Amino acid sequence: MASSNVAVIGLQWGDEGKGKIVDALARNCRYVTRFCGGANAGHTVLVGSDKYVLHLIPCGILTEGIVNIVGNGVVFDPAGAVQEIDGLRSRGVMVNGNNLKISTNAHMVMPWHKREDVLSEAKLSAGKKIGTTARGIGPCYADKARRSTAIRVGDLLDPEALGLKIRSVAAHKNELLAAMYGGEPMEPEIVVAEYTGYANKLSEMITNTGAILRKAISAGQRVLFEGGQGSMLDVDHGTYPFVTSSAVTACGIPSGAGIPPSAVGQIVGLIKAYTTRVGAGPFPTEQDNQTGQYLRDKGNEYGATTGRPRRCGWFDAAAVRYAADICGVNELALSLLDVLTGLDEIRICTGYRVGEDQIDEFDPALMNKAQCIYQTVKGWDEDITDCAEFDELPDQARQYVNTLESLLGRPIGFISVGPERSQTIVHNTRIEGLK
Ligand code: GDP
Ligand code: IMO
Ligand code: MG
Repeated sequence: MASSNVAVIGLQWGDEGKGKIVDALARNCRYVTRFCGGANAGHTVLVGSDKYVLHLIPCGILTEGIVNIVGNGVVFDPAGAVQEIDGLRSRGVMVNGNNLKISTNAHMVMPWHKREDVLSEAKLSAGKKIGTTARGIGPCYADKARRSTAIRVGDLLDPEALGLKIRSVAAHKNELLAAMYGGEPMEPEIVVAEYTGYANKLSEMITNTGAILRKAISAGQRVLFEGGQGSMLDVDHGTYPFVTSSAVTACGIPSGAGIPPSAVGQIVGLIKAYTTRVGAGPFPTEQDNQTGQYLRDKGNEYGATTGRPRRCGWFDAAAVRYAADICGVNELALSLLDVLTGLDEIRICTGYRVGEDQIDEFDPALMNKAQCIYQTVKGWDEDITDCAEFDELPDQARQYVNTLESLLGRPIGFISVGPERSQTIVHNTRIEGLK
């Protein structure tokens, strides 16, 4: 029997509105699982007038009855997590070992990772800076690959061994940061005390999450995989080196969650109706002009994690096709369509010109030299934020949706016309039981 699980994966450079769609689709799922990234993510969910921004905790935490999992592929910052959990509890959201489970095998973000993230970015020359979120993501994944200097969430369960590990790694990191960046040393005992405190607060949630998911899947319970970042930021397939440090496409799900590839299920590729990017790197359709500013103002395009203004531009169908092909996307969800209201004309990039050649397939290696080839469609003026059905959308908006569907070769299952749960039009979805 085909898996009933479902994944929501961003197909652009992040911030496609994953939080809202995960929240909207999670109701009929038993588990919501993060499998990549860390607190670099900022997923916004609006419940009525209550706004939540989640960084490490899966968005299913806002719905009763869902078990939320931080998978082994995530880099887990206990400082950020404790803050997030306290913040949720203070707003009346229940968070405990029953509805939040953190993988023993997830790697732990340590103070030296955040420090190295900031110092190494500062040292890079103009044009080389990545524009990271300063959450210690890259250095933590580097330690995961290096092995000898890594500390994992499971280490919190043995405070004595944790203390020994922290003292030994801290000594090494102090030498390294001083030699490479002239960084001030960190006091190991302060780090030991801090992390022992996190162990006390989090230990009821730390467990073998892969085993829980595999058992649940065997029993036919439905899992939603919540993507972090966007496919164009993937460490292998994105615009390297201007990417994040983990496997964020759908290909990262099995290893990042500890489940077999056959259990991933249906892939919903999430696309914003235009494009944004935070941080440095190629962005062929960027509009560093009035149009970009219009999108930024109308879409409130400021980072949910760092508050940085997002770079804005037209929809890039060639880039999204590339990401959707890698992810094996079954259907799309289109978000922030309402932001395009009021534009006379809307442009869609359908391919690129590189020198004399025309290319239809996005190739990260060529993007610095690529000129976009655009198709222009008519805009609309009507407010669409109250539209509940596809037929209620103005002609031009429907035309825009149809054009995207045909350029991308996949159905658009859901259309989001506003940040709230209710502002979601069910369109051409073929996924059973998600409506
Ligand atoms: P994520 O990282 O993919 O979860 O996205 P972010 O939360 O970083 O950014 C998406 C922003 O768009 C948030 O402020 C959401 O509240 C908002 N949003 C999501 N869907 C819609 C929509 O359809 N229309 C509008 N206007 N805002 C939306
Ligand atoms: P969500 O899940 C947008 C970007 C950073 C930077 C690059 C590397 O909210 O969509 P990192 O701190 O990961 O080493 O930074 O990746 N980035 C994101 N951009 N949304 C995100 O997450 C991002 N997570 C990382 O801005 O360009
Ligand atoms: Mg975000």
